[in-house]
Amino acid sequence: MASERKVYWSVPDVGADEKQAVIETLDSGWLGMGPRTKKFEKELSEFTGAKHSVVVNNGTSALLTALMTFGLQPGDEVLIPTYTFVATASSAIALGAKPVLIDCDPETFNIGPVQIEAALKAHPKAKMLLFVDVAGLPCDIDAIRTLAAQHKLLLLEDAAEAFGATYNKNPLGNYDHVTIFSFHIAKQVTTVEGGAIQTNRDDLVEKMRLVRSHGEGKEKYVHVELGLNFRPTDIQSAIGSAQLKKAGHYLELRDRIAQQYMRELGHWLTFQKVPSYATRPTWMIFMVLAKDKAQRDAFNAYLNAHGVDTRIPWPPVHHQPYFQARFPPQDCPVADRTFDRALSLPIGNAMTQSDVDYVIDVARRFFEGKP
Ligand SMILES: Cc1ncc(COP(=O)(O)O)c(C=O)c1O
Repeated sequence: MASERKVYWSVPDVGADEKQAVIETLDSGWLGMGPRTKKFEKELSEFTGAKHSVVVNNGTSALLTALMTFGLQPGDEVLIPTYTFVATASSAIALGAKPVLIDCDPETFNIGPVQIEAALKAHPKAKMLLFVDVAGLPCDIDAIRTLAAQHKLLLLEDAAEAFGATYNKNPLGNYDHVTIFSFHIAKQVTTVEGGAIQTNRDDLVEKMRLVRSHGEGKEKYVHVELGLNFRPTDIQSAIGSAQLKKAGHYLELRDRIAQQYMRELGHWLTFQKVPSYATRPTWMIFMVLAKDKAQRDAFNAYLNAHGVDTRIPWPPVHHQPYFQARFPPQDCPVADRTFDRALSLPIGNAMTQSDVDYVIDVARRFFEGKP
């Protein structure tokens, strides 16, 4: 049965402002990375308070740029959450690192000190900790930073889903570890494809900029670092500047949608727990947990049949075929159970109140057995 109504999983809000920004860039005579990227970097730093911002062409490139800047070597052990979008792990694996996958917390779906300490017991020589703010919910950053300092771990925060989030009221990115963001189309701020790295550390930024662009130093065609091409275009950066002006509105809108979902569906579903330190989650993805896999699958099918687009968020990395073909089996039962029960409902910068009401109405009909 085809539904007459359609609610997409995530619709970006791009219109007159972004059109104008693209046209102005096209007319400016400078399309590649240039003045508009510099301006976007400055605005990103103003937004989060981070001392340095380096814009790149997507979030995966941001991860690779950061990892290459840290000088990650083949064989280095990197602690990585298994419950994440695959790019977190793939980036380290692409550089030859040995991924040590960590199970997640059952309530936040993030990793925290408990999971990290257990992994460090088994892998005391780990070189780096790559942690992820799942769905835009900040991890316990202070606890993680303390642990990383104690164990002399390099620290990289994959906040691809968390631009605009705050931890104890401090914006992510405004830290002296390294944080990356994605500006892909479904994110809180989009450049269609894009990403950025932020840090307050002074010692890494010059190298990051070199890695971003073939390691080319001051002299043309003289390559002083190993680098690749992770450059954004000024067209993307101009869209980013236009989007950034509306970021506050998008974050508030997503929060309103999330609060309404939680208020109206809490009788039947469990949600990602928001600890008090997570003073502003971004709700890039709105995840729910059904009672079990059978209920999740039936709920998903019902929503889809009634025109509500959904996603089952990520098979954990240890279940990905490419990972299983290369690495020994890993046991992460919490991520397995989360994956079996999780579903993400529509949320996005252009979602209307009527879309939200419709999703809730369809969900209610499913649970009340009144199809
Ligand atoms: C946690 C995480 N890391 C990395 C990425 C990669 O970002 P991109 O799609 O911009 O390459 C994503 C994707 O959105 C992600 O969700």
